[in-house]
Amino acid sequence: MKKLTLALSALALSISASTAFASCESGEIVAKLSHVTGGTTHPKVVAANQFAERVNTEMNGVMCVEVFPNSTLFGDSKELEALLLGDVQILAPSLSKFGSYSPKYGVFDLPFIFKDMDAAIRFANSEAGKGLLNEMQDVGFVGLGYWMSGMKYFSANKPLIEPSDANGMKFRVQTSDVAKAMIEAMGASPQPMAFAEVYGALQTGVVDGQENTWSNIYTKKFFEVQDSVTETNHQLLAYLFMTSSEFLDGLEPEVREQFLKIADEVTQQANEQVKAAEAENRANILEAGGKINTLTDEQRQKWVDTMKPVWKQFEGEIGADLIEAAAGS
Ligand code: SIN
Repeated sequence: MKKLTLALSALALSISASTAFASCESGEIVAKLSHVTGGTTHPKVVAANQFAERVNTEMNGVMCVEVFPNSTLFGDSKELEALLLGDVQILAPSLSKFGSYSPKYGVFDLPFIFKDMDAAIRFANSEAGKGLLNEMQDVGFVGLGYWMSGMKYFSANKPLIEPSDANGMKFRVQTSDVAKAMIEAMGASPQPMAFAEVYGALQTGVVDGQENTWSNIYTKKFFEVQDSVTETNHQLLAYLFMTSSEFLDGLEPEVREQFLKIADEVTQQANEQVKAAEAENRANILEAGGKINTLTDEQRQKWVDTMKPVWKQFEGEIGADLIEAAAGS
């Protein structure tokens, strides 16, 4: 009986989480928005919910967005395929997960290419950045905007102060060739893995460390199963807020226009609020007992010197012009 009660309450929890915005009425166009992040303070969670709230209020009776967070509908290894199959209509995957569709998005992954998030936002809003939004049109993907998530930091089961501290260790990475090359440059082994599996892999020692934003490290509790996080600021995490051309082309012109207007405004709002969310989640980690290692200029320079040669490795497939545009942002 106890087992049955537990199972029923787990089911109720998962239904209420996945249908937080599921008040769709018959006759409305239903757009499922699936993503992999969780908690309440994560920038992607906040932006996805803001988008759903605005569509559901301003397009009431016409369109309805249902949000499925925490990989409850699709994990990151399946969601792009699901978009093409029409099983989901809106996604916001990390730009590091498009390697099999276009190598150009690798520019966002190059270590130390953006000084900070403001530089990344400037690049995203530049001609070169906007041009990349529709890089996968031939596949059937439409970019609605870039949502910044934050700069990334390494965590591990021992303090990482210099890149050589990582020698021989195994790090979880996203499915990005640039990220793999960056870990190899540190003398460590990259282990590509779905986001939903990272906590378990850190906890059981399948991997020794990982790299992520304050918001992911806090909301997924990675800090609880790691010695410490090092403030390397080495890479950007950003998302492509996207839909499929099949979904967008199927909308009546005035419906499409309103949908795109809301998407654009929510994107701007998301990028304005991201720095505050990251600062809040950094503070949340410390408050919850997590440890953060800061670096001197000299120590940080060693990370830059170790990882920057990766740019040259990918210049051919990304394009020297694009790299220059991003680095100069
Ligand atoms: C996400 O923030 O969407 C996930 C990033 C990751 O896989 O590390």
